[in-house]
Amino acid sequence: MQVEALPSAVRSAVQSHRCGGRRTGLVPTMGALHVGHVSLLDAARSECDFVIATIFVNPMQFGPHEDFERYPRTLEQDLQRCEAAGVDLVFTPETSRMYAPGAESIVSLTGLTRKLEGRHRPGHFDGVTTVVAKLFNITVPDRAYFGQKDYQQQLIIRRMASDLDWGVEIVTCPIVREDDGLALSSRNRYLSPAEREKSLSLSRALSLAQDLAQSGSESPDSIARRMQQLISGVEGIDPDYAVVVDCDTLDPLVDRPKRAVALIAVRIGKTRLIDNQILRFR
Ligand code: PAJ
Repeated sequence: MQVEALPSAVRSAVQSHRCGGRRTGLVPTMGALHVGHVSLLDAARSECDFVIATIFVNPMQFGPHEDFERYPRTLEQDLQRCEAAGVDLVFTPETSRMYAPGAESIVSLTGLTRKLEGRHRPGHFDGVTTVVAKLFNITVPDRAYFGQKDYQQQLIIRRMASDLDWGVEIVTCPIVREDDGLALSSRNRYLSPAEREKSLSLSRALSLAQDLAQSGSESPDSIARRMQQLISGVEGIDPDYAVVVDCDTLDPLVDRPKRAVALIAVRIGKTRLIDNQILRFR
């Protein structure tokens, strides 16, 4: 496995592997790799000839009062996980190289990024789209792998890749959960045992939403209210939102749909958690 910090080295590695219709797969991450990340690496490994993982804690996507400083950095273990997953190349750039002095270009979407997460984390998605655009330019992937865990993020990346004619196929992989339902996240390690217990209310609210959608008797709005009630009933949870919205636009639904997405974001102590589930209505 090759490990590179310089974009020029990544570029030449990609070029030398590109011959003969070989497919390059990209898995962008911020490190602190867990089984959820590994599921993306596995998908890329099974579908692509040359697999690139990137590990970069991107300062541009953190707000001033967010957890950039304390975000877990576990490079050695991450490299071991990449190696075990059969990754060909890991790109671990320096911040000073990704954002050189004088840099002033940003990639910014005008609609999807303003909703839900965008409202609660102003500027966050500009950081995500700018860094992912740079990673696409450096690695020139045929396919790029993202998790449904960050539902709005994968939607935004799809929009961006299509709008800007990257010709990269975006693959969205299912959410990997703990046995008790908690979606894996690098931020779960911040949770105290008591907070960890409370965090189960996210997946419980999503299961309730799925049951209600299946029962066929409740509207998207009333399902959202039931999720909000469940979450608000747990002491120490501060909800940002719990909604049921259109899968593609994230807008409220007027009619009863066949499909919708339930999305939840909460704060538990100092930790912010998100989760979601596609709902199928009867
Ligand atoms: P990060 O939070 O490290 O996540 C990297 C990828 O792993 C994302 O596509 C995310 O959706 C996916 N992922 C995280 N938890 C998962 C889980 N439980 N199951 C399945 N996939 C999961 O998302 C980012 O980094 C950054 O915003 C990035 C795209 C790398 C840009 O900086």
